Amino acid sequence: MALDHVSLGSTGLSVSELALGTWRFGRRLVDGEERYDAEGVVETDEDRAYELLDAYADAGGNFIDTADKYGDGRAERWIGNWLEDRDRLDYVIATKIHRPRREGDPNARGLNRRHLRRQIDTCLERLGTDYIDLLYCHRWDDDTPAEEFMRTLNGLVESGRVNYLGISSGRPDAWKIVKANEIARREGYEPFTVTQPRYNLVDREIDANYLPMCRDYGLGAVTWSPLAWGFLTGKYRRDDRNDESSTAAQDGRFADRYLTEENFDALEVLLEIADDIDATPAQVALAWQLHHPDITAPIVGASTVEQLTENLGAADVSLSAEQFERLSATFAGSE
Ligand SMILES: NC(=O)c1ccc[n+]([C@@H]2O[C@H](COP(=O)([O-])OP(=O)(O)OC[C@H]3O[C@@H](n4cnc5c(N)ncnc54)[C@H](OP(=O)(O)O)[C@@H]3O)[C@@H](O)[C@H]2O)c1
Repeated sequence: MALDHVSLGSTGLSVSELALGTWRFGRRLVDGEERYDAEGVVETDEDRAYELLDAYADAGGNFIDTADKYGDGRAERWIGNWLEDRDRLDYVIATKIHRPRREGDPNARGLNRRHLRRQIDTCLERLGTDYIDLLYCHRWDDDTPAEEFMRTLNGLVESGRVNYLGISSGRPDAWKIVKANEIARREGYEPFTVTQPRYNLVDREIDANYLPMCRDYGLGAVTWSPLAWGFLTGKYRRDDRNDESSTAAQDGRFADRYLTEENFDALEVLLEIADDIDATPAQVALAWQLHHPDITAPIVGASTVEQLTENLGAADVSLSAEQFERLSATFAGSE
């Protein structure tokens, strides 16, 4: 497999067409809840994290996605350790700020000036670098005026600690990004040039407004959860929903969102196309995004090197225009 490079939105930066996600690095679950104040199950431990980073780099990948909150700081720290034996210049590191730094401290969260300035130093220290290639606001902050955070972010770029700015979305409100970039344009600040929305064949809420906004304003769209938390790999079965011993069924958020009759009906088409072109369902679901004119790079999540290798193989999968349209239309109808 050979990963190509694409332009990161309208910036001059080249990134791999598939980014590496690190959300599960050091993520600790206690009774199914993410917590760090008690012993629990670590989703991706430190050794596995280095294996995944090595495998991604060996495949020619350069675009690593993390966040200050992943694994309560462990993801950034482990990437920093890993970079010690590498050439920092070979990688484009994207991280995110927003989430609470200290529970109970109302100012150690969001996009207020104090938090952004303190937290960027924490990210740089953990990553062992003096610059972040791409800094995302992990979420919009309704409690901080956009003028305040756009000015502060501009200062981070001017100081050389950050090269490009992005904004990630939970609930995708296109108008907020347009508003922030209008402030940036008016004041001569650095604008957001990259967005990070959730997008996959099932989760298509950004089709209507958000992606057209990205297209019109030349914003990159780097997408999260491209495999719908694994649903699009085809490894779940219709009866998992009612199987009390199934981990998937126990996860209400996952089961309610993805394990529906409509989604399983649409999945049949994905499985059929995968079979026809001798690819895996995960590869076809990712290839659909690679063929999508408005998507810059999906962020690949993987729990094992085998999964990662399979997913990166999507770069070699070719879909016909008819297959692309069939997938788009089938899943759009399944929501
Ligand atoms: N900006 C944001 O708010 C935000 C939110 C979420 C994620 N992200 C970013 O996006 C990245 C990807 O998100 P995601 O982890 O939700 O992506 P995803 O691709 O939807 O799900 C990844 C999970 O699916 C399963 N999987 C992946 N490939 C597989 C394969 N080939 N065969 C079988 N199972 C497979 C694995 O879980 P199991 O092995 O457990 O089944 C894996 O951990 C994250 O790491 C993070 O960097 C950003």
